[in-house]
Amino acid sequence: MNIKDSSVVITGAGNGLGKKTALDLSLAGARVFAADLNEKALKELHDESGCKIKYCVCDVSNEKSVQALFSEACDVDILINNAGITRDGLMIKVKDGETKVMPLSDFMSVINVNLTGVFLCAREAAKIMAGKKHGLIINISSVSRAGNMGQTNYSAAKAGVDAMTVTWSKELARYNIRCAAIAPGYIGTEMVKAINPVVLEKIVNQMPLKRLGEPEEISKTVKFIIENDFVNGRILEIDGGLRI
Ligand code: CAA
Repeated sequence: MNIKDSSVVITGAGNGLGKKTALDLSLAGARVFAADLNEKALKELHDESGCKIKYCVCDVSNEKSVQALFSEACDVDILINNAGITRDGLMIKVKDGETKVMPLSDFMSVINVNLTGVFLCAREAAKIMAGKKHGLIINISSVSRAGNMGQTNYSAAKAGVDAMTVTWSKELARYNIRCAAIAPGYIGTEMVKAINPVVLEKIVNQMPLKRLGEPEEISKTVKFIIENDFVNGRILEIDGGLRI
């Protein structure tokens, strides 16, 4: 598939990996449609792209909001399911005789955005792609898919995203739609920089390369998947060699 002149919808494009990928694909000639909850960030992205990137405010966990996104975007050759949130915390923490737990609301909000949101966007995009027998869905998973301390909710969602990726690669091939995922490790975005520095140092020390990844190292992987038509149903781990 060519990047140039392809219509790309990317969620969570207001910052971090989503923003970098949106800008890089736009520079490579794609028609990029950016979605995010944060309208101010979307407007900044639009300006930074020289007004090339169009945008729409969307809550990926809300069915009506996702349907509105895809009726506004009209066309989609490539969907990048990138929107995600964290509500990190240990499932239980016993300290000084007191037990703190991860609230159900923190578990559910991550599942709603990071798992249900991926399902809703993929379903709406796949309807459009199936009509023209052409498409690609790239899901952004995470190294945490294998289980990560402090991320019961996030790890469960990302493992689910991987399972949906494989399922859709099988179900959608008949419509000439590919589906693949990227599982980034710790990339130097605001999300990762917000981790307690003592904990982050511990994590970086487990990495053979002893450094955070760059957002560009993920957007390059997105481009690779787009351009290589034999990538299907696989989760590419781009984590500097970290295995949690
Ligand atoms: N890897 C290794 N050790 C970890 C860890 C991790 N991911 N998370 C927590 N720990 C360790 C802590 O170092 C600490 O160890 P000691 O008891 O030996 O000191 C122990 O677990 C308990 O942690 P805290 O003392 O920090 O407990 P807390 O209740 O104050 O905070 C927490 C809990 C919010 C989960 C915090 O530990 C934390 O932020 N951990 C990092 C979680 C993480 O990796 N998040 C990734 C966010 S970025 C992202 O999600 C993008 C992506 O795709 C990777």
